Amino acid sequence: MEYTTLGETGMEVSRICLGCMSFGDGEPWMLEGEDADEIVDRAVDLGINFFDTANAYSGGESERILGDALSAYDRDEQVVATKVFFPVEDGPNRSGLSRKTVEQELDNSLDRLGMDCVDLYQIHRWDDDTPIEETLRALDDAVRRGKVRYLGASSMWAYQFAEALHTSEVEHLERFATMQNHYNVAYREEEREMLPLCEREAIGVVPWGPLGQGYLARPHEDLETTTRSDPSNVHNPTPEYGRAGGETVNERVEELAEEYGVTMAQLSLAWLFSKEWVDAPIVGTTSVQHLEEAVEALDVDLSESDVAYLEEPYEPKPVIGHS
Ligand SMILES: NC(=O)c1ccc[n+]([C@@H]2O[C@H](COP(=O)([O-])OP(=O)(O)OC[C@H]3O[C@@H](n4cnc5c(N)ncnc54)[C@H](OP(=O)(O)O)[C@@H]3O)[C@@H](O)[C@H]2O)c1
Repeated sequence: MEYTTLGETGMEVSRICLGCMSFGDGEPWMLEGEDADEIVDRAVDLGINFFDTANAYSGGESERILGDALSAYDRDEQVVATKVFFPVEDGPNRSGLSRKTVEQELDNSLDRLGMDCVDLYQIHRWDDDTPIEETLRALDDAVRRGKVRYLGASSMWAYQFAEALHTSEVEHLERFATMQNHYNVAYREEEREMLPLCEREAIGVVPWGPLGQGYLARPHEDLETTTRSDPSNVHNPTPEYGRAGGETVNERVEELAEEYGVTMAQLSLAWLFSKEWVDAPIVGTTSVQHLEEAVEALDVDLSESDVAYLEEPYEPKPVIGHS
């Protein structure tokens, strides 16, 4: 396993983060019990020490499953990330980023994880109803109380992230150290504003959807072979990936995967590993074999001309993942 320092935190993380959104029982493509433990066990075997979940994944089940599975291992080596914003259950003060919600939800997450401290606590989205200063003060207090080590943010507009970083600086509050944004070879809108901002501010970048929720792991005409492609799933690969040059990108991923003798998923991950601003993509998988493939992808070195060939058909798309 390769490790890298996450942004300016000093924490060492594996160059692959295991995404745990697929732990739970809410959807046909989710795992629980021994099946979920098997994924975490293999991840640890492979040297993965970086895990991403959220309070809202499967109503808290994902955190419970991850916490249980990791309790068999040395906590000192693990970097556990979770998130707040979306509701775990309906009702007032269950969502958003007010001090009340942040404090309550952090305690609930720690309970479910069975941990005293979260290594990386991320705001899942921007909250228009709470001033960012209030959120940052609540998060800063959580760091000072020893419940959180570092702060992160997720999909939002670059101007919002810049405002948050600026507010932290002028108010002397703990600042966001990471950005978890939507980025893959078929969705590159983040290159316009967010990624250059992250580079300039030394923010660690941990992209979600590195395989386009499965779109980049198989030829586009075979998309229906994954349960995730059922349009009733919230997390299905959106048809937007295929628009504006996306199908040609998918075909070039297939073509180059064949040339390199790797799978499409590995080729797509290799493209992300070629990007200096990426610290660790967050790979979602319910398969030990796919997890192993993701780790092997670290050995695939794409030539500069192949990176350019993959990127050439891409055209700007509507933003996917936040509004
Ligand atoms: N911050 C946010 O707003 C946000 C949003 C979405 C997700 N996330 C995080 O990012 C993680 C990953 O997101 P994601 O699962 O949507 O995206 P993803 O990693 O791009 O895609 C996962 C899909 O790809 C398939 N896959 C993985 N490896 C494969 C391989 N080698 N061959 C064929 N198919 C393969 C998986 O199927 P199998 O299960 O069969 O392997 C699954 O259907 C989540 O778990 C979560 O932690 C964050």
